[in-house]
Amino acid sequence: MDALDALRTRRSIRRYKSRPVPREALETCIDCARLAATARNVQPWAFVVVTDAAMRRALAETLEYGKFITDAPAAVVVLCEDTKYYIEDGSAAVQNLLVAATALGLASCWIAGDKKPYADDIRALVGAPDGYKLIAVVALGYSADHPTPAKRTLAEVVHWEKF
Ligand SMILES: Cc1cc2nc3c(=O)[nH]c(=O)nc-3n(C[C@H](O)[C@H](O)[C@H](O)COP(=O)(O)O)c2cc1C
Repeated sequence: MDALDALRTRRSIRRYKSRPVPREALETCIDCARLAATARNVQPWAFVVVTDAAMRRALAETLEYGKFITDAPAAVVVLCEDTKYYIEDGSAAVQNLLVAATALGLASCWIAGDKKPYADDIRALVGAPDGYKLIAVVALGYSADHPTPAKRTLAEVVHWEKF
């Protein structure tokens, strides 16, 4: 699948088959995430891959709108050091991860994040060092769903030369 197809077909998936994700595919997703654009090339990110079922259950108990992580065979907890542009850098990495997953035929869902009251609980669960912020928990697996969320059209969102 080329990059444009991956960008156009990526969707947030919240129902997964039990089939495990090969380690090589997880590594490829994170390899693409770590190559994202980053202010001043600081690359403040760290990625914790979680496949253990008990650990995914523990994450699910904490995540407000991420209970489905128990059924996703893998999760990636994306963290960033508390740098000036950590949200932008971390978000760019997450989006790369999602698109790479799509290109590999994997389903994914971005689960928030730094602004949630549970952020410190997730950080503690994965043993993140002090000074790291939670960017997202990303569910990964093979899709058992085909959602078609409404999207604003290009004409609705694009402005040429001025707003
Ligand atoms: C910052 C951010 C936080 C999100 N948090 C959640 C979440 O906690 N749970 C969830 O199920 N989806 C979450 N999503 C996914 C959005 O709900 C989803 O991207 C949106 O509904 C559009 O659907 P699409 O991704 O299929 O295009 C989040 C997405 C972003 C960008």
